[in-house]
Amino acid sequence: MTIIDGKTIARSIREDAKKRTETLRTQGVVPCLAVILAGDDPASVSYVTGKEKALAEAGMASRDIRVNADISEAELLSLIAALNEDAAVHGILVQLPLPKHIREDRVIDAVSPQKDVDGFHPASVGNMVLGRDGFLPCTPNGIVRLLRTLAVPVCGAHAVIVGRSNLVGRPLSILLTRKDVNATVTVCHTGTPDLAYHTRQADILIAAAGKAGLIAGDMVKEGAVVIDVGVNRVSDIAAKKGYRLRGDVDFEAVSRKASFITPVPGGVGPMTIAMLLLNVVRAAEKTRDA
Ligand code: GUN
Repeated sequence: MTIIDGKTIARSIREDAKKRTETLRTQGVVPCLAVILAGDDPASVSYVTGKEKALAEAGMASRDIRVNADISEAELLSLIAALNEDAAVHGILVQLPLPKHIREDRVIDAVSPQKDVDGFHPASVGNMVLGRDGFLPCTPNGIVRLLRTLAVPVCGAHAVIVGRSNLVGRPLSILLTRKDVNATVTVCHTGTPDLAYHTRQADILIAAAGKAGLIAGDMVKEGAVVIDVGVNRVSDIAAKKGYRLRGDVDFEAVSRKASFITPVPGGVGPMTIAMLLLNVVRAAEKTRDA
């Protein structure tokens, strides 16, 4: 059994982003991502901080835009409109989830598809489904890259995804069925009876349900490749912060059966950030080449 080292794989992608950034800088372009965070949800603050740190390490710029949770939807939309017009900004990322009074769809639709480095805009999703050029969502794209880098046989494999979110499960199902990836995909969700029946069929099992420890040892086939997308905070009085991160997979039990397994943290998370950097650098390259 191999514990997949997402950090190391992500590091080499980040090196690539850094080199491309250096080239862009010599051409007078500094790749820049605007990051909008509404409110102070601790998990979101931590994600945003991690992304901005990675951008800086790759030589890219970021605009750190933090607004109160009570910002109106109209104000947020006009902030995004201004960033769409700002030629120095190549990518726009609005950290999700948003405060309840703001309609997420309106915000996602407001980001110019040319700057949609999250790949959440309906135009980006449409391009992905049709196999056209466009920004791919970072977590699903990072998972495909992880499998490729590990040389896991994906072509012809049965991939079972648990979770159908717009962020991970659904887009991942699209990417895995692309011709150049060629997996056979089953998507399970909260309406799936006998989840274990499906997960046991998986050559590649992707847990993206957001439920700590959902995938137990007896739900996994011997030799399966297990990708854990869950980042669940569970309280732990022994931990310094009062909580610890737990994936959707019971790591202890499942690692005894899997051939490859991602840890939480240090598996999928670093890949998401690395793919974001690639999207930002690509957005900047596109403006240079335009
Ligand atoms: N919240 C959780 N994951 C993500 C992500 O990949 N992008 C954004 N914008 N928000 C998130």
